[in-house]
This record gives sequence, C-alpha cells and structure tokens, in this order.
Amino acid sequence: MATVPMILPGQLAQSWIKRDHAHLSPSYARAYPFVMDRGRGSEVWDADGNRFIDMNGGIAVTATGHSHPDVVQAIKDQADRFLHMSGTDFYFDKMVQLAEKLNDIRPLKEEVYTFFTNSGSEAVEVAIKLARHFTGRQQFIGFQGGFHGRTMGALSFTSSKAIYRKNFAPSMPGVIHIPYCYPYRPILANPENKDYGDVVLDYLEEVVFAQMVTPHEVAGILIEPIQGEGGYVVPTQQFMARLRDICTRHGIMLIADEVQSGMGRTGRWWAIENFDVEPDIITSAKGIASGLPLGAVIARKSVMNWRPGQQGSTFGGNPLSCAAGLATIDVIEREGLLQHTLDVGDYAMDVLSEMKERHATIGDVRGKGLMIGVEFVLDKVKKTVAHDHAENIVAKAFEKGALFLGCGKSSIRMSPALNISRQLTDEALAIFEDAITEAEAEL
Ligand SMILES: Cc1ncc(COP(=O)(O)O)c(C=O)c1O
Repeated sequence: MATVPMILPGQLAQSWIKRDHAHLSPSYARAYPFVMDRGRGSEVWDADGNRFIDMNGGIAVTATGHSHPDVVQAIKDQADRFLHMSGTDFYFDKMVQLAEKLNDIRPLKEEVYTFFTNSGSEAVEVAIKLARHFTGRQQFIGFQGGFHGRTMGALSFTSSKAIYRKNFAPSMPGVIHIPYCYPYRPILANPENKDYGDVVLDYLEEVVFAQMVTPHEVAGILIEPIQGEGGYVVPTQQFMARLRDICTRHGIMLIADEVQSGMGRTGRWWAIENFDVEPDIITSAKGIASGLPLGAVIARKSVMNWRPGQQGSTFGGNPLSCAAGLATIDVIEREGLLQHTLDVGDYAMDVLSEMKERHATIGDVRGKGLMIGVEFVLDKVKKTVAHDHAENIVAKAFEKGALFLGCGKSSIRMSPALNISRQLTDEALAIFEDAITEAEAEL
C-alpha cells in the first residue's frame, strides 16, 4: 500500500485556496484543502501533483469515473455540433434519445415522461409542483435527516442539518416531517420490538394523519429510498412497501428522490428497486451525466399531465449534458457496471464489517452497492455520537491519500465511481483503517 507522506496543502494548493477565499462565497463548506487538478477513473491529482483515491466520486456524481473517455468523446462530438438549443422551445435528438433511455430503465411498469433540469434541487422543485398539479392538494410529508437541496421548496424538506435552514425562514408551508426509518438510531419508542419501519408508519397514520393533516390533503411523500446526507441510512424492507401501500390507499404521490441513490449507485438503476416498490415520481441528478449538470424528473405518463408552458427550463437538458447522460448509461450497460457495483460493494461491506470487529468506534456499517456508510460512536453500547472523531478520520485519510466525506451526525460515506477497481478499493480501505487507528489513539 502506497502511503506517501504529503505536506498538505502544498504551495500551489495554498495559493488557490487563498484566492478562492478572497473571491468566493464563504458559504462553501470544504471538508479539507483538496484542490483538484485532474482526474482519471477513481484517481485524482491535486494542484501540487499529489495523488488521491476518490472515494466520493466527486460527490456521488462521477458514475463512470473522472473523465471516462467515452463520456468525454460524446461531449466533444456534441460541442462540435451545437452548444445550446433550448429544449423548452425547440427539439433536438439527444434530449429525445436520453428520455427514451430513461423510459427503458424506469423502475415502474407504466411508461414515463421525463422533464430535464439543471440540478437535483431544481428536479425536486419540479416534482413538488407536479405532485400538487396532479393531485390538486397542497400538503407534503418529508423525513427528518432528509436532504433535497437548498432552493426554497427543496429546503422546506431538507432537515439533515439546522445550518441549512438557519435564517432562511419562512420556507414553503405545508411540509410535515416525520422520523426516517433509521433502525440504528430509532427516535420513536418501540416497546413491542416491531420492525422499525412499522413504528415510523404507525406514527404517520396514528399521529400525523389522525391529528395534524388528513391523508386526503397530502399531495406527496418525498423520500430518499436510502438517505444520503442524513447518514447513508438504509430503511427496512417492510418500511418502503408499507409506505407505497399508504400512498396508494390515499392517492398520495410517492416521490423517490434518487438524486444521490439512483443511476446505478446501489447496483440497481434506482435504489427503490431494492425494495420492490414502484414510485410515482422520481428525481434524478448527480450521477446521471457523470459530472455535467443535469437533473431529471421522471413520472408516470398518467401523472405528468400538465399543459405546455406549465414547466420549462432554459438550460435544463442542455445538449452537452444530454450527450454525457446518454454516454453514461451506455458505459454502465456496456461495461456491466451494475453487476460490478454489486460485486465491489459487497466486497467493501465485508471488509468494513470485519473492520468493525477490530475497532471500538465503528458502530454500524450499512449500505447497498457502492452507497456505503460507516457510523462512528464513542461507545458502542450507548451509541454516543462521535462527530469530531469522524471528522478527524476524514482529515487523516486525506493526508494519507484518500478522499472521504462525512454525512449524518458522525458517519463517513463512500460513493466512489461505479467502475472503481477492487485494487483501488482495497488501497482506499487500508488508508481508511490506518486513519481510524490513528484517530482512535487520539481519543
Ligand atoms: C437526495 C438529494 N436530493 C437533492 C439534492 C440536491 O441536488 P443539487 O445539489 O444538484 O441541487 C441532493 C444533493 O446532495 C441530494 O443528495
């Protein structure tokens, strides 16, 4: 294992960071001083030539790795043809082809329509509007710990950190938050030792629907099938199936926010497929175009029944992003990356589960495919949150040559490119364990 000692940030990185701080919004919250110079696959190099393994895939974005040659070629070919033609006002081939492809890989039986956006947040905004439009209702259910973006509508659901909402009230009215199905850290009492999914949904039906809002006023339930920023939390199998049933019974739109969990990340095209549940509306972004800005709202044809002019976007579905999106799906299919994601993901989960036995501060290892979270605690019995410890591990791993990011209160996430090799995974996990050992010695 190569752990070249590095002095970080190096001189060039330092100078970029200084200039960045002088001119860029102080709201950017960088975890450590990594200054990107170039990337290939799951390896990246900083401004001073230091090499790192990118266990984040950007931020769950580079589905096919950094600068996959086929994706780059598709972007170049499209750039030579034209850079812009607003899909809101005119037609072009790549936008149609990508929508056709998304219909092919939809996680539901009914055919779908697609609306393209620039980002995940914009996709969430559109999904909220669509749910209101279709149902004629106003209210929504969201989940504690959820992250759906920072625009006003999306922000009214986001509740993974109070800082995201601080000083921005009032947000969109009509969103009621309920606990997520987080079996490792249940916040609802469970005296009968039920499946925790049932505890949460009993609360929805017996408390929220009975005392706060009738289900017939609810337009949609917006949920991440696997929670991302909130801690890479995997709900129980039962939870999602019963949630679907509740939505069906009351005519509520089940909106799967697959911005982080979709596009093959869990080894299925969509994370919700892991639960054998069909959503009504899906939001996608991040991995969909391997790094170019693109989002999508994908909905049952019977649901996306709005009229011309009711929704549009100048840049949403721009030609370069659509070309990159088509190439991304093509690479995932041609290179068998769904199966590879499952294989490497299962392997990483096994390695991490063994690591958990060796380390007093690893409380939980969870995930599906290459969407893996490791939750740190100061005490395994009390499950004491270990936020600073997790941050220390991330910082130490950076110094040793691997990029990780935190999530939730004290978890570290792994969302590398879907084509990361087993060899690089091994190298990154060895660095991860070294960082844990060192950080534990400092407790
Ligand atoms: C589940 C989920 N939804 C929405 C968003 C917002 O996406 P964007 O940052 O592209 O606006 C994110 C971003 O992290 C996300 O993880």
